[in-house]
Amino acid sequence: MPEILRNHSLSKLNSFHFDVRTHKYCECKSVKDIQEIISRPEFRNEKTLILGEGSNILFSKDFGGLIIRPVILGREIIREDREYVWIRAGAGENWDEFVAWSTAWGFGGIENLSLIPGSVGSSPIQNIGAYGAEVQESIEEVSALDVLTGQKLTFLKEACRFAYRDSIFKQEWKNKCIITSATFRLSKKPELNLGYQMLAEKMSGRERQDVETIRQVIIEIRRSKLPDPEQFGNAGSFFKNPRIPEEQYQGILEKYPGLPSYPAAGRSRKIPSAWLIEQCGWKGKRRGDAGCYEKQALVLVNYGSATGKDILELATLIEKDVHGRFGIRLEKEVNVI
Ligand code: FAD
Ligand code: EPU
Repeated sequence: MPEILRNHSLSKLNSFHFDVRTHKYCECKSVKDIQEIISRPEFRNEKTLILGEGSNILFSKDFGGLIIRPVILGREIIREDREYVWIRAGAGENWDEFVAWSTAWGFGGIENLSLIPGSVGSSPIQNIGAYGAEVQESIEEVSALDVLTGQKLTFLKEACRFAYRDSIFKQEWKNKCIITSATFRLSKKPELNLGYQMLAEKMSGRERQDVETIRQVIIEIRRSKLPDPEQFGNAGSFFKNPRIPEEQYQGILEKYPGLPSYPAAGRSRKIPSAWLIEQCGWKGKRRGDAGCYEKQALVLVNYGSATGKDILELATLIEKDVHGRFGIRLEKEVNVI
């Protein structure tokens, strides 16, 4: 039976490393454990939060309810044919360990997503993406439990409504289901995805052209750009990259000919928030221990004893400046609790 701990520290369970606590905390090792917890009356009466590894969460204060952490482990090949292998992984598996294991077997599809922090169970939630790939390309289905009924749910890929940093789990099913596992379809004859320019450049000098080498290069690139949360607390990109209409893009481009952008759906462009933030002079700036990272303006960092409030205040100033200068409203990627 899962144990409920009281007044539990979350400092190691949030990648900003804020010194916060939760009123109640419970780790669940199996689907049964979760069903048992959610059937208890206290689950109904209590504010609840599902927590993975806390790498996309900002706790603005102590959490006054019950945190449930699915730590369901296991990776299992459930099917294969000549081209593909289908692997089911438990929600509590560490994402990057899963990627390392898959690429070591030579299975392709998620190698560009190497070194992203967090758990397998969280990977579909914001459809994690990096270096030209998104996890939706490899997901076959997601298994979950309905928190109201305890019933098992299966979301086939189409039902997940994946989009850029978005899915049904951030919308209709937010806080209404607990993901217990995800099934991935990986390729036995992988085609390398070299769409990201820096990746293509670095791969061109490599003798081996395989998923393992992609993984190594991605790790190199990430280490050169992003702060290690163990050293400087952070949650990766703090904001999403905005999509703006073509007309608005042309207006900004006239004033700022260096404006980087990528084509997006319809007549719109995606603009890197990091560029907008850097143009506003925030890159490398600090307000006490809350700062905008010197090598990547989109990452807000806890340099020591910053609190969630300090980071949120900094984020608000950045949002105001970007809106004032470019007329673009930044949307937070990080989940604020
Ligand atoms: P958490 O932060 O614990 O939770 C995230 C959200 O999911 C919360 O709303 C939580 O309630 C919910 N949740 C968690 N588990 C479950 C579950 N089992 N069932 C239902 N709901 C659940 N993201 C990218 O997409 N691309 C990147 O390149 C990237 N780089 C990063 C780099 C750094 C240094 C850091 C710190 C973060 C980065 N991120 C990136 C963000 C983060 O790694 C991902 O969002 C990751 O999927 C979060 O996983 P987690 O287990 O830590 O989720
Ligand atoms: N740029 C700046 N200043 C900076 C950094 C970047 O102007 O300080 C500009 C440059 O023009 C650069 C462009 O922004 O070419 C894009 O930068 P980068 O390739 O580093 O990616 P990003 O748009 O900042 C996104 C994701 C990351 C993901 C990388 C790599 C979002 C919100 N972020 O960042 O995901 O790892 O691409 O593909 O989409 C995360 O979600 O937490 C995350 C880290």
